[in-house]
Amino acid sequence: MTDASFRLVDAQNTAAGLPFKALVDALETGFANGCVVPARHHHQLEKTGEPVATLLLMPAWAKPDDQDQFLGVKLVTVVPGNAARSVPGLTSTYILYDAVTGQQLCLMDGNVITSRRTAATAALGARLLAREDARSLLVIGAGRVGSLIPDAYRAVRPIEKVSVWDIQPEAAQKLVRSLNERGIIAEVVRDLETAIAATDIVTAATLATEPVIKGKCIRKGTHIDLIGAFTPRMRESDDAALAMSRAFVDTDEALHEAGDLVQPIEGGVVSKEHILGTLADLAHGKLKGRTTADEITYFKAVGSGLADLVAARMVYKSFYAPDRISATTLRPASVE
Ligand SMILES: NC(=O)c1ccc[n+]([C@@H]2O[C@H](COP(=O)([O-])OP(=O)(O)OC[C@H]3O[C@@H](n4cnc5c(N)ncnc54)[C@H](O)[C@@H]3O)[C@@H](O)[C@H]2O)c1
Repeated sequence: MTDASFRLVDAQNTAAGLPFKALVDALETGFANGCVVPARHHHQLEKTGEPVATLLLMPAWAKPDDQDQFLGVKLVTVVPGNAARSVPGLTSTYILYDAVTGQQLCLMDGNVITSRRTAATAALGARLLAREDARSLLVIGAGRVGSLIPDAYRAVRPIEKVSVWDIQPEAAQKLVRSLNERGIIAEVVRDLETAIAATDIVTAATLATEPVIKGKCIRKGTHIDLIGAFTPRMRESDDAALAMSRAFVDTDEALHEAGDLVQPIEGGVVSKEHILGTLADLAHGKLKGRTTADEITYFKAVGSGLADLVAARMVYKSFYAPDRISATTLRPASVE
């Protein structure tokens, strides 16, 4: 019998249950195997005297023949009016269920699930696309996600030096300080274009609406990793950066959501076919990532409910059910 009690995992323990190396491995298997990810639902919440808020529902569940039968939903509230209250604008919760019985298993911190699975998905993109000898990393945007990028990348590549750029210099300084305190060589970038031209892996996790990564600065062999720009109007890279690259996305949603792709495709700079495939294609081995040391690789992610489910399952199993193999033993006899 499965344990039917409903568990609560706080932010600290959710993070402890998601070490990067293991999470990247689990995501690689998860993207290769796939799961059911229906369209996310957006609900607008009208407010008096403040901007409209949003409730987002992001479900995902195992395919019927998968051994691990889990179902999960991420619930996200986005309340722009919280800025005036000095309260964070985004709150996220993850609920994990047994997909066979529908019983609730665990509630965990959705903010931690999101930021760690996002950094780990970027690292998986780099494992499949960046040069194996990539030793330098530039992080553009040192916020919730960006500050996790060095640790996530150090799990997949021999990163020796981290450079950090942020429009808020104190955010870059804070990340550099915390890396230095842990013995990691890191510095705040003074000139962004020079730093891009001198780095093996360039990651952006910003709220930029104009390109911060320009093709003219990118040297041969670089891996470009884009995490922000989640609407067609937002951008982190320019047309040239995409046009000169071997380009991949986390899921096909990126082709509709990300300004980095939508704008150059609509503008006729590149065709849709220029985007060669998804993380599932790469993880499954259907497509080859990097083919030469000199080519520039490009990975644009907009996030997937699959990655949330993989992470939530990992947290639950690590604390409560390390030996849980399958809930299929709970299937009614009539369907055996
Ligand atoms: N792809 C995904 O799955 C996924 C998941 C979560 C978040 N995101 C996106 O990643 C981005 C970062 O998220 P976060 O939670 O770390 O946000 P955050 O607000 O914690 O951090 C963003 C950081 O970027 C900096 N910044 C903003 N504009 C910049 C610019 N033009 N140049 C340089 N720095 C700039 C800010 O000063 C801040 O330090 C957001 O766009 C978010 O929507 C994507």
